[in-house]
Amino acid sequence: MGNTLVVRGGRPLYGTVEVPTAKNSVLPLLAASLLCEGEVAFHRVPRLSDVAACVEILHAVGCGVQWAGQVLRVCPQPVQNHCLPDGPVGSMRASVLFCAPVLARAGKVQTAMPGGCKLGPRPIDIHLDGLTQMGAAVQWGEHLTLQAPRGLQGVDYTLRCPSVGATETLLMAAVAARGETVLRGAACEPEIVDLANFLNACGAQVQGAGTPVVRVQGGRPLHGGHYTPIPDRIVASTLACAVAAAGGQAVLRRCDPAAFAPLLQVLRQAGCAVETDADQVQISRRGLLQGVGQVFAGVYPALATDAAPLLAAALLGAQSQSSIQDTVFENRFACAAGFSAMGAQVAVQQHTLFIRPGGTLHGALVTAPDLRGGAALAVAALAVSQPVGIENADLIARGYEDLPRLLRRLGASVHDQENGTKKAHQTVVTKFMGI
Ligand code: UD1
Repeated sequence: MGNTLVVRGGRPLYGTVEVPTAKNSVLPLLAASLLCEGEVAFHRVPRLSDVAACVEILHAVGCGVQWAGQVLRVCPQPVQNHCLPDGPVGSMRASVLFCAPVLARAGKVQTAMPGGCKLGPRPIDIHLDGLTQMGAAVQWGEHLTLQAPRGLQGVDYTLRCPSVGATETLLMAAVAARGETVLRGAACEPEIVDLANFLNACGAQVQGAGTPVVRVQGGRPLHGGHYTPIPDRIVASTLACAVAAAGGQAVLRRCDPAAFAPLLQVLRQAGCAVETDADQVQISRRGLLQGVGQVFAGVYPALATDAAPLLAAALLGAQSQSSIQDTVFENRFACAAGFSAMGAQVAVQQHTLFIRPGGTLHGALVTAPDLRGGAALAVAALAVSQPVGIENADLIARGYEDLPRLLRRLGASVHDQENGTKKAHQTVVTKFMGI
């Protein structure tokens, strides 16, 4: 069941925090570093369990990887092993991003199906279809095997939907392929731009990243170098939602307000005061929040799907109703069960979470269903003056280096309890609730 977070909320948050580096940039960048011929040093890398899983994959294929403080050095070697290890592959969806670089470097790659958050069906057909068009042969068996012994060939390819991961896979493949590739219908998320910026900094020629049409002149050798990935817009959204839920005032330093502008806009609509600067956001909430009616989460530049449960958590105590529709994943709101257990008036119908006013939030013992759903339960708990225990909190550590510490910087009482002492905390939570 993993660790349990214990949150004692009901007090406003105050303070200044620096937003850490984006998980969703770091993971593809670590995969892309395999394409480089020299050492790559990534700066300000958070110690996430998903990063540890990537390091395990890099080690397994024969790369040297070393931490020095927050710097992660990757020394790509000729790929010695084209089989990705089942453990880390099964722990996260982003493991699929290692397929294209290993295929490009070794001429073949073998992998299990990637794991990750259970947000509904998560096929990898676009990754595979694009790679097939570039000359890879796909073979299904107990494992998936891709082969391209003569290398990959540039292609004009239209993605059937703007998948972030598939755009990253095909971008990396295109950089290694002979000739020009044009990707149409590409995802436009800031993390795609970050990946393209990194590849260009290493000598690639990628144009148009951040728009639906990306052009790549492939086959150029890539050197190593130093790179600092972008700040995490989902962690920034988590902190903004935490202040919205609990009240108070916080300054979020080192973030790009434009990257999570739709979330900030909805929080303004709900009654928060939000001021933005070039690289920081100040958010405050003094009175009660209002509901926001209907909002939807979708592909960039819409409200991020990862932020949808976090926003829901902030709106649980609002005076009027809200509904949030997620257009990307079928099961984004598995955290609704935890919200209900805390006394919130919520219901999920198809891809939409409905929040009605009038629920009185109280302490509970709940379970993190997935990474962002777990963080959303922590955000919701900040508005509850009784203790809330969140089991299965290891899932949260996939995307937050130390969420309890980050929230404690704003004055929250959030503590992570190892399995051994968990029972004691369950007793605290259940005693307080009178159960
Ligand atoms: C990435 C993010 C994740 C975020 C998601 C959407 C990382 C490590 N993860 O995930 O946090 O929630 O983008 O912004 O960056 N699809 C297919 N076939 C494919 C690929 C995707 O049908 O081959 C579908 C998926 O099932 C899903 C939708 O496309 O319904 C979006 O998925 P995608 O954009 O690929 O998300 P990920 O890259 O997995």
